[in-house]
Amino acid sequence: MAISRLIIEHFRNLTAVDLEFDHGFNFLVGNNGSGKTSLLESIFYLGHGRSFKSSVTTRIINYDQPHFTLHGRIQEQQHQWSVGLQKLRQGNTIVKINGEDGNKIADLAHLLPMQIITPEGLTLLNGGPSYRRAFLDWGLFHHQPAFHSAWSNLHRLLKQRNAALQQTYDYEHLTVWDDELAKVAHQVSLWRAEYAQALSPEIEQTCCRFLPELEIHVSFHQGWEKETDYSEILRKNFERDKAIGYTMSGPQKADFRFKANGLPVEDVLSRGQLKLLMCALRLAQGEHLMAQKNRHCIFLIDDFASELDETKRALLAERLQRSDSQVFVTAISPDQLYQMQPERYRTFCVNNGIITQSN
Ligand SMILES: Nc1ncnc2c1ncn2[C@@H]1O[C@H](COP(=O)(O)OP(=O)(O)O)[C@@H](O)[C@H]1O
Ligand SMILES: [Mg+2]
Repeated sequence: MAISRLIIEHFRNLTAVDLEFDHGFNFLVGNNGSGKTSLLESIFYLGHGRSFKSSVTTRIINYDQPHFTLHGRIQEQQHQWSVGLQKLRQGNTIVKINGEDGNKIADLAHLLPMQIITPEGLTLLNGGPSYRRAFLDWGLFHHQPAFHSAWSNLHRLLKQRNAALQQTYDYEHLTVWDDELAKVAHQVSLWRAEYAQALSPEIEQTCCRFLPELEIHVSFHQGWEKETDYSEILRKNFERDKAIGYTMSGPQKADFRFKANGLPVEDVLSRGQLKLLMCALRLAQGEHLMAQKNRHCIFLIDDFASELDETKRALLAERLQRSDSQVFVTAISPDQLYQMQPERYRTFCVNNGIITQSN
């Protein structure tokens, strides 16, 4: 899986960009504010229909324009797709795959598995559980074909239940929703638990290389008491849920926690160690997809050098090179990239929204 060409119009300060990328490494070098992160953000947007930086999409559209447009050519082995995404200031999103309308963001996301590593991405470890659920669910989205519709169902049912909670004093009125909700909740939790278990050895191995000084332990928490039927929890907690106005326990509270030498990583690790652990998780997840499904994901690495000393940069560089994936790396100057010596690469200079290939 690789993006061989990308055309960008009016995405932040990238008003007109047309680039051919290497299927190996692509280095983006430029000063602060030149547009490096915006380029990664545009690739991420094409694969997710949202940004990793702003939740308000209109802020991403170039200040003077009514919309932004992204066109990509994607290649995976012998197959090729042309994909397009346009976002209008009024809010509409148009997705095209091979010229056909009516596609969904999820179709793009299936085509473009990607992992992002940014300085802000430490929230995976020191932010709330939703970041870690998103991490697990990324894996399930790509590994388990039925996951996406079960997940959407789960959220729809929870929303309906929370609305119904406001309107009834009798639990029996909720049992119709709850029977269905419990079924989906068990299924989603089972998939998450299985995936977490399958991924754990890969995470632990990668951590051994990146953070040999620490013993990292991972654990999955489903969001309600272990070994308990979720229907019982819903029934038991009805009064409490009603009082607070939403369903307090369940898969919407699941977490995937990390401990170092028995203590929560966010409490004891340095920022550099947290960054390495985050890199280890994302690499392990990408490589697990490769091992299980023979699909390469794209790695987006923003500000490669930040927080990492020379040895750790070298470790990350070596691992990315071995992944045999398409990688995009940003840096302020070329000397921050000297540990990266891939066989195949292109370097791009980013200057005030203009991007030119320099080798
Ligand atoms: N909607 C927008 N329209 C035009 N320019 C924008 C918009 N949003 C941000 N910018 C500008 O785009 C530039 C690119 O930022 P960024 O990609 O984060 O730079 P870098 O990662 O190279 O430091 C910044 O100067 C920022 O002010
Ligand atoms: Mg940046």
